[in-house]
Amino acid sequence: MVVALSTRPMLKAENLTKRFGPAVAVSNANFAIRPGTITGFLGPNGAGKSTTLRLFLGLVRPTSGAALIDGKPIHEWPAPSRKIGAALDTQCAHPSRRAIDSMRWATRLAGVDASQAEELLDRVGLTEVAGQRAGKFSLGMRQRLALAIALVGNPEIVLLDEPMNGLDPEGISWIKDLLRRFRDQGRTVLVSSHLLAELEDLVDDLVVIAQSKIIGSGSAAAFIDRFQTQTVSVLSDQPQPLGTAVIQAGGQVIDTNGQRMRITGLTAVQLGEIARDAGIAIFGLTEDRSLKKAFAEATANVADIRGDVG
Ligand SMILES: Nc1ncnc2c1ncn2[C@@H]1O[C@H](COP(=O)(O)OP(=O)(O)OP(=O)(O)O)[C@@H](O)[C@H]1O
Ligand SMILES: [Mg+2]
Repeated sequence: MVVALSTRPMLKAENLTKRFGPAVAVSNANFAIRPGTITGFLGPNGAGKSTTLRLFLGLVRPTSGAALIDGKPIHEWPAPSRKIGAALDTQCAHPSRRAIDSMRWATRLAGVDASQAEELLDRVGLTEVAGQRAGKFSLGMRQRLALAIALVGNPEIVLLDEPMNGLDPEGISWIKDLLRRFRDQGRTVLVSSHLLAELEDLVDDLVVIAQSKIIGSGSAAAFIDRFQTQTVSVLSDQPQPLGTAVIQAGGQVIDTNGQRMRITGLTAVQLGEIARDAGIAIFGLTEDRSLKKAFAEATANVADIRGDVG
C-alpha cells in the first residue's frame, strides 16, 4: 500500500524541451502532476506524448529544462523501479521468451523478489498463458504483459503510453478499474491517449499537448472553462421573440431547431432573467459543457495559442 503524504508534484516538467535535429518534439513544457491522481495525457498523433514520457524515464535526454520525479531526475533515485514503473511499448518483452521468463528477468533487473513474477501475471490476467512466448500474444495480451512489467517494484508512479490500444471493451473497463485501484492506493498514474473518449470517465486531471506545446493542464472542469465556447440550450415555444431579446442583450443565437435554441454570449442565469423580463416562458435551460468540445476547440486553435502555457 502506497499512501501519498504530500501534495508536492510527483511529476514535474520544467521548461522541458526535446529537439531531434531540427524537429521539436517537446517545446518548453511546464506542468505538474498531483500525487494520488489519474492524469490523462492527451494529444493528437505526433504531438509529443511518448517523447515526454521517455524524458521522465531518462530514456531520452532533455535538450533543455528538466523532467522531475518527486523533485529530482530519475537517475538520482537509488531504486528507480520502486519510484516509477512504465509501460511504453507493447514490444517490451522479447518475442521468443515465455511471459513468465520476461517477468522473472524484470524482477531480477529491479532487484525485487522473483515471486512477484507470478503474482503480477495473475494481477493482469495472464496466468494461463504464462508459459507461452510473447511473440504469440495478441496486442491486448501484450498490453497486459507490458503493464505487469511496469508494476515490478511496486512503484509509486505509473506511466502508461496508450495502454488501451488493442484492448476490447471488456479489457478497457478492466484496465480502468485497475488504474482507479492504483489511485485509491495513493499511487500517481499518468496515462496517455490520442482519444479523449478513452480517458473521459477515468481521469481527475488532464495535460493536453498539441504540436509539441502544452496547451493546458489541470482539472477537466478548468480546461472546459478555458477552451470551450460556452453555449446555453433553451427550450421555448416563443423562439422568435426570445431570439430578439437575446440579441438585444448582447447574446448570439447559434441555431434554432423547433423550440430548442442554442445561445452564446450569455450565461444560463442571464438568459433566464431576459426571458422573465420579456414575459417569455421557457421550459428548459442547460449550459452545454463538454470536454470533447473543449478538446476539439483547443487543438483546432493550436496555432493561435502556441506559446500559451497552461
Ligand atoms: N527518435 C526520434 N527521432 C526523430 N524524431 C522523433 C523521434 N521521436 C519522436 N520524434 C518526433 O517527435 C514528434 C513527437 O513524437 P511522439 O512520438 O512523442 O508523439 P506522440 O504524441 O507520442 O504521437 P502518437 O500519438 O502517434 O504516439 C514527432 O514529430 C516525431 O516524429
Ligand atoms: Mg506516442
